[in-house]
Amino acid sequence: MTKPKILVTRKIADSAEEQLLKNFDVSLNKNDSPFSYDELVKKCNEYDGVVAASWDKFDKNFFDSMNGKLQIISSIAVGYDNINTEAAKNKKIVITNAPNVLNDAVAETTLLLMLGAARRAYEGLTLVKSNKWKDAKVDFTNFMVGQPLTGKTLGIIGMGRIGQIVAERVKGFGMKVIYYNRKKLSSDLERGAKYYENVNSMMPHCDFISVHCPATPETKNILNAEAIKLLPKHAIVINTSRGITVDDDALIDALEKKTIYAAGLDVFTNEPKLDERYLKLDNCFTLPHIGSATHETRAAMSMLAVKNIEAHFLKKNYPSRVV
Ligand code: DGY
Repeated sequence: MTKPKILVTRKIADSAEEQLLKNFDVSLNKNDSPFSYDELVKKCNEYDGVVAASWDKFDKNFFDSMNGKLQIISSIAVGYDNINTEAAKNKKIVITNAPNVLNDAVAETTLLLMLGAARRAYEGLTLVKSNKWKDAKVDFTNFMVGQPLTGKTLGIIGMGRIGQIVAERVKGFGMKVIYYNRKKLSSDLERGAKYYENVNSMMPHCDFISVHCPATPETKNILNAEAIKLLPKHAIVINTSRGITVDDDALIDALEKKTIYAAGLDVFTNEPKLDERYLKLDNCFTLPHIGSATHETRAAMSMLAVKNIEAHFLKKNYPSRVV
């Protein structure tokens, strides 16, 4: 029997590549050279399955261009806003994602952003690395003085799996957690966190506000100008979800005018070509979308993507099917 042909669009973990080679006729991308959109469309028509990265774009035009050979796209990301799932469904192409195995890593990145933004890590690092510390006026009450996490209140938007882990972790800092979610959680999952029925009513109570919802038409600009205006002046905005959940104009305006204290951002609209105003803001601690970037997590995400491919062609239950 001929083996199904699988295309892997980017370099994935060695262990997952080896696993894939056991059952399939695989085209790996050992050099990790990205395909252009047109190359991706052309190549996908030659394969039965694709293991894809979150950077690969599968829009309506992509699915309209498919000739019927491609059966599954196994995405190595929890977020699938890069895939038009309705168009995939219409073409009967299965979509799977890679949730859960990255929850701890993203929660850790959230803590990194909270600490980095609150304790002015970007300013401190820049001062040391530019060798200007020796020329700086170091005074006790102002020099690199920031804010603590201990005892503060964290508001979480999107109390799913990652939000819940963040809520648990910040208890180590003695933080109080409040949250907004589409639905109130059961009290065992809430673990003491107070629920707000809408974002705006929660804002005035947040020392930190962290976004953990998926990017959907409903969550676009969920942190909009109105919500940001309701934050206290010392508030810190954290985002590890997707850039489009935050209104850039409103956030940048608040950071420039210092109507909030700081932001810690791992994700941006149009990343990596982010709004250049962010680059000029000392009170914005930025990372290049590395929420899930630990060796262990990326290996687990790669293997989960392979398990979804195996499930499809070996007729097993999908570990994580989207449509
Ligand atoms: C995800 O898995 O969605 C992460 O943000 C990496 O893209």
